[in-house]
Amino acid sequence: MKKFTISTSKPYDVIIDRDILSDTGKFIGERFEKCKACVITDNVVNSYFVDQVVQSLNDNGFKTTRIIFPNGEHSKSLNTYAKILEALAEDFFTRTDIIVAVGGGIVGDIAGFAAATYLRGISYVQIPTTYLSAIDSSVGGKTSVNLLGGKNLVGAYWQPSLVLCDYGTFDSLAPEYILEGKAEAAKSAIVSDANLIPFIQSNDFQHVVERCISIKKSIVEADEGDRGLRQLLNFGHTIGHGIEKLSAFTVSHGQAVAKGMVVETKAAYAMGLTPNDISAEISTILEGLGFDLSVSQSSDDLYRYALTDKKIFGDKITVVVPESIGKCKLHKLPMEKLREFIDLGMK
Ligand code: GLY
Repeated sequence: MKKFTISTSKPYDVIIDRDILSDTGKFIGERFEKCKACVITDNVVNSYFVDQVVQSLNDNGFKTTRIIFPNGEHSKSLNTYAKILEALAEDFFTRTDIIVAVGGGIVGDIAGFAAATYLRGISYVQIPTTYLSAIDSSVGGKTSVNLLGGKNLVGAYWQPSLVLCDYGTFDSLAPEYILEGKAEAAKSAIVSDANLIPFIQSNDFQHVVERCISIKKSIVEADEGDRGLRQLLNFGHTIGHGIEKLSAFTVSHGQAVAKGMVVETKAAYAMGLTPNDISAEISTILEGLGFDLSVSQSSDDLYRYALTDKKIFGDKITVVVPESIGKCKLHKLPMEKLREFIDLGMK
C-alpha cells in the first residue's frame, strides 16, 4: 500500500493499492464518525463495484443510501446535479454526513460538485475506478458539471477528504478505457517526467498511478487555485475539450486530449514560443500508445470553442509550451493571437 498526503488547504490522504474496495468502510471509519453516507455512481460502475463498497460501509456502521445515474458524458449536467441535491435533502443529509463517489471522472466531478455546494459544503470521498480518474481527476479538488455551452463550465474547488484508489478495478476496463488513462498519463510524462513513458507503455499501473499522483501532489500543493503552475496539467485540453464537444462526445476525452497535445505543441513551436519542435516526438509516443491523431474539426470551430477556455484571464490565454519530453512552460498569449495559434497548430 502506498499513501500520499496532499497538503492543500484541507489536507487528505490518497491510498493506492490493489483489492482494497472491501476495506472502504474501515478507511473511511478511521476518518469520520459513523454517519450517513450517500454513495454516488453510474449504472455501469454500480454493477461492478458498488455492492462491496456499500457492504463495507454498512459493516462499519455507516448508514448508506445510493444514487445511480446513467453512464456517459450527457449525465454530467445541471439536471443530474439537481437530482442529487434533491435526493440528499429528501434523506435529510446534514453537514456531518458524507458523499462517497465511486466511478470515473464524470461521477467524481459531479458528486464532488454536489458535495461542494449542498448545505454550502459537505465532505466527500473519491473512489476512482478508471485509470483516468485514478491518475488525475480524483485528486486536486476540481469539481464540475457541463453547460450546453461547454465542458466543466460550472464547478468549484473542493478537496475530497480521502481518495481510495484500487487499481485492481482496472482489470474490468475495456482496452479503450485503458487508453483514456494513457492519454492523461502521457500528459503528466510530457509535462513533468520523461522516465514515466516506458511504464505507461508496459501498463505498469501501480507505478504510473503512484508517479502521476506524486506529480499532481507537488503541482496542486504549489497552486491549489489553478492560477499558475497547475495550468500545466491542462496541456492538450484547450484544443482537446473543443474536439470532444464538437464531436458530440463521439471522440472520447483521452483521444481528444492526445490530438490536442499534438496541435498545441505544433502551434507553440510555429508561434516561436519555443526553439524546439518536439511535435514529431510526441506524435510518435502517442501513436505508439495507440492513438489516432487525426483532427476532423475545423480551426474556425476550435477557435470559437476555445473562447470558453478557463485559462483565459482578461485579454490573455495561458498556453502550455512543451520544450522537451518532461519539461513544459506556461506562456500568456494575447487573445488576438489565439486564432493564429490554432491555425498554425492545425497545419
Ligand atoms: N485535471 C487537471 C487538474 O486537476 O488541474
